[in-house]
Amino acid sequence: MTNSTTSAPHWSNRLAFIMAATGSAVGLGNIWKFPFITGEYGGGAFVMVYLVCIALIGIPLMMAEILIGRRGASSPSLSFKRVAEESGATGAWSFAGTFGVLASFLILTFYSVVGGWAIAYLWHAFQGAFDGSTVKTIGDLFSQLLASPVEMAGWHAAFMALSMGVVGFGVHSGIERAVTVLMPAMFVLLIILVIYAFTTGAAGASLDFLFTPNFSRLTTTGVLVALGHAFFTLSLGMSNMVAYGSYLPRHISITGASITVSILDTVVALMAGIAIFSVVFAHGMQPSMGPGLVFKTLPLAFGNMTGGYLIGIAFFFMLVFAAWSSAISLSEAVVARLIAVYRIPRPKAALLTGLVAWAVGLLSVLSFNKLANFKLIPGKNIFDSLDFLTTNIMLPMTGLMVALFVGWIMKKEYSRDELEAGPTLHKLWITCVRYITPILVLVVFAYNLYTSLLPKS
Ligand code: TRP
Repeated sequence: MTNSTTSAPHWSNRLAFIMAATGSAVGLGNIWKFPFITGEYGGGAFVMVYLVCIALIGIPLMMAEILIGRRGASSPSLSFKRVAEESGATGAWSFAGTFGVLASFLILTFYSVVGGWAIAYLWHAFQGAFDGSTVKTIGDLFSQLLASPVEMAGWHAAFMALSMGVVGFGVHSGIERAVTVLMPAMFVLLIILVIYAFTTGAAGASLDFLFTPNFSRLTTTGVLVALGHAFFTLSLGMSNMVAYGSYLPRHISITGASITVSILDTVVALMAGIAIFSVVFAHGMQPSMGPGLVFKTLPLAFGNMTGGYLIGIAFFFMLVFAAWSSAISLSEAVVARLIAVYRIPRPKAALLTGLVAWAVGLLSVLSFNKLANFKLIPGKNIFDSLDFLTTNIMLPMTGLMVALFVGWIMKKEYSRDELEAGPTLHKLWITCVRYITPILVLVVFAYNLYTSLLPKS
């Protein structure tokens, strides 16, 4: 049933799919979030737990999402429905897809706000705004951005326009064309940054920090953050890989592609970490600076080092490219659904998605200034609430549904056929999605709910 609809778009070749999926996976999560959570939760020890999560949960779930998409060959929700019905189960499983699409939309609303910051900082970098900066001037630069809803909404609009501009053109002339430029460019920039780190920064200290395990600093929260991040960084749980999988031609191996994408994603996160921490340590700064790492610590370093002007530009170009290709996949899940359900033309669907996501995103923009005191979830402003709701609640929930679905509902023959895996590999995969993933996900989920609902003392 896979390639039955000839009008449905398909990736031109394996490389195109790998780039699109890697573009989805590699994003703010790798460059903005990974370094600061690693800094917070004990460097090497955290990295080790994270790598185990990628291997035991990330890769099996990515395979699961892609195979649902390819077998269902439709928008995320319809793909779930078709695959469920084919195995004699209820079509109500489409809920898992719908839920993922909704979550994608919500992530898109605030992800593009941070994407907007990245463009704003690229602009600052070009203008030499970091030159000779001090802790105070760099801090002011960031607070000024956060304090101005109009400025932030403008950058947010620019970022949204970039993503919708690509998605509106379709899988071939839009997404594929964009990622085949963005991804190689991003890799080249990253390699330049790492070389720079090795020649002038404190690369030794950085490697030491990232790879020497210090278990005394790894808390339970750290383990759970690692697990949650494994989901986020691989774009899992939001039907993004279901949507991309639905354009995957049959002759391409899902297993091979999933492993390749996961490795690339991990390599980028580690390389970004090496580059960022080298710069940080070379300037005698502290590694755990929280979310300000990329928007405060690094600009400060760029403004006070030789070659910092160009390195700053390279860095923020890389950040924009990474965020852009991820936003494209978040948008595609939503757009594919609009096209399938309401039968509207793609450009219109993209425009609509962009406008509504931008408008909803204004709430996140305002949560840094006018609505700063408005708490959606106790103790969290709108931006933090949306991040928490999607990353820590919706994402593990859909992840759990996906694992249970392919592990227990979908007929084994079908998944074996789709994965084209030998008996041992298939068995290994089934064991992961049946037992290991659901149990681990439930543990994180329960813990997150428990800590968030507990009144803060
Ligand atoms: N993986 C991307 C990142 O690391 C973000 C992203 C894109 C995402 N699509 C997703 C996260 C779907 C969760 C689910 O920045």
